[in-house]
Amino acid sequence: MFDEFRKIVEEGFERYLAPSDDCPARLRESIRYSVEAGGKRLRPVMVLLACEACGGDPTDAIPAAVAIEFIHTYSLIHDDLPAMDNDDLRRGRPTNHKQFDEATAILAGDGLLTLAFEIVAREIKPAEVAVACVVDLASAAGIEGMVGGQMADLQGERPEIADAAQAGTDDQSRKIAQLEAIHLRKTGRLLRSALTMGGRIAKADKNTIEMLDHFGKCIGLAFQIADDLLDITGDAAKMGKGVRKDAELGKLTYPGLWGLEESRRRARSLIDEACRSIEPLGDRGLRLEALARFVLERDH
Ligand code: IPE
Ligand code: IPE
Ligand code: MG
Ligand code: MG
Ligand code: MG
Repeated sequence: MFDEFRKIVEEGFERYLAPSDDCPARLRESIRYSVEAGGKRLRPVMVLLACEACGGDPTDAIPAAVAIEFIHTYSLIHDDLPAMDNDDLRRGRPTNHKQFDEATAILAGDGLLTLAFEIVAREIKPAEVAVACVVDLASAAGIEGMVGGQMADLQGERPEIADAAQAGTDDQSRKIAQLEAIHLRKTGRLLRSALTMGGRIAKADKNTIEMLDHFGKCIGLAFQIADDLLDITGDAAKMGKGVRKDAELGKLTYPGLWGLEESRRRARSLIDEACRSIEPLGDRGLRLEALARFVLERDH
């Protein structure tokens, strides 16, 4: 799906990861290894689709699309480290630290994160749109977004590092609230920023940006519920990553708390809500809607 947009984004990677004598070869190789391993490219495609849906030229959004995939790839490299989820397989290949070493994997992640901001600041025009995109991306990736969500995810699994306020969180309703807060941050915020950046680059008005933001919030939550479901029901070969890991690690997950059926129902209703929320876009929103349906139906 969306092959032409995926191709455009992947050509963008090439441009920004071209060889240079100023970067140690091992570091560049490690970065390229993870970026070029593939992946669904959902976030960059969303940037381009949101831009198109708001009447913009998607090619203007390529730097933002590349940047968000670099941040996402960094988050996966670090997520797989032994200190975090300790995974051996990612995007159908040995994880970055397995292929290289832990220090190189940490630095490859750091490099992708910083490069992402350089690309947006340098390439998105005009400058005020670049600044707005940097704010979207930084807040989505940062301590109130993905990084904070990753911390909370680990705290949910490891009582010894939990905050005092979380101690003894045994009752179901507090666990549900904690789980939702984890999902909204660790996955949801970055997906939201894909949509808002696309809208900003198309010069969409404030109401449209808010509409895209709400669409992204629903999709983000549904996407992580689907990821948790696929950890239980999915096929490692198709997914290109380890499965049946969450329960083993003691992660707080949707199916773990609610069961498979209720989790599927919740994901479905979030996708319906997302699609309803972009109805004002009319036919221009149809491809975003198709992407939303894919989030639910995917098997990888
Ligand atoms: C996996 O993301 C990590 C989550 C946020 C759930 P994706 O499922 O988008 O991974 P790739 O990019 O396709 O490899
Ligand atoms: C990761 O969530 C979310 C990130 C911010 C990387 P998971 O830990 O569930 O992602 P997978 O299942 O390893 O891809
Ligand atoms: Mg994780
Ligand atoms: Mg993981
Ligand atoms: Mg997972």
